[in-house]
Amino acid sequence: MNQRKVIIAPSILSADFGRLADEIAEVERAGCDWIHVDVMDGRFVPNLTIGPPVIRKIRKVSGLPFDVHLMIEDPIRYVEAFRDAGADYITVHVEASDGVGKTLEKIHAVGAKAGITLRPKTPVSTLEPFLQKVDLVLVMTVEPGFGGQAFMPDMLDKIEWVRTRFSGLISVDGGINLATGGLAVSKGADVLVIGSAIFKESDRKSFLLRLRKSLPSLSR
Ligand code: DX5
Ligand code: ZN
Repeated sequence: MNQRKVIIAPSILSADFGRLADEIAEVERAGCDWIHVDVMDGRFVPNLTIGPPVIRKIRKVSGLPFDVHLMIEDPIRYVEAFRDAGADYITVHVEASDGVGKTLEKIHAVGAKAGITLRPKTPVSTLEPFLQKVDLVLVMTVEPGFGGQAFMPDMLDKIEWVRTRFSGLISVDGGINLATGGLAVSKGADVLVIGSAIFKESDRKSFLLRLRKSLPSLSR
């Protein structure tokens, strides 16, 4: 049995967009594993962020896997564009279209890893038909749309539900910090998405060391 290394994925939604390349370089130097990119269209969620042109530019400054979380309607329309821009993982919402299965197939067809996610109010059983088709399940622990919200502890049961049925990666997104990261990992999470908790710190390296120390060491 392998010792699990928890993957830390800073969400650049909470970075200084005016210094995006430097912010990414800093968290990469500090020892983070992935870069989480939140894409919002102002329709699926009431906020707008960035799209493929920005991802293409920041792709040049980082060697880390890009974990792209699409909070957009009918994401199949843009799968190719995000892959071309440099996305390694492309995660779509189960609520975002009627063609989730086709969207996941398209993500694989363009050579990316596929992820599925859901809003806090959506029952976790809606993921069941897609578990065989994805590499990653992202459990949202805040309402999608904004960084800096409080972790919803009720969502921990969803992690457990997925863990008993799915052997791929489970990621947790929303309100993760030194107090909540360990709770998610103890339920079976492999990836912690962290926005405001890391970007508000001036010393990202020391934050990361403290975060890793706060996590239980598990193996599976
Ligand atoms: C919310 C996003 C998250 C968010 C996380 O819609 O999907 O990735 O930026 O930020 P924190 O860690 O501040 O909750
Ligand atoms: Zn996200």
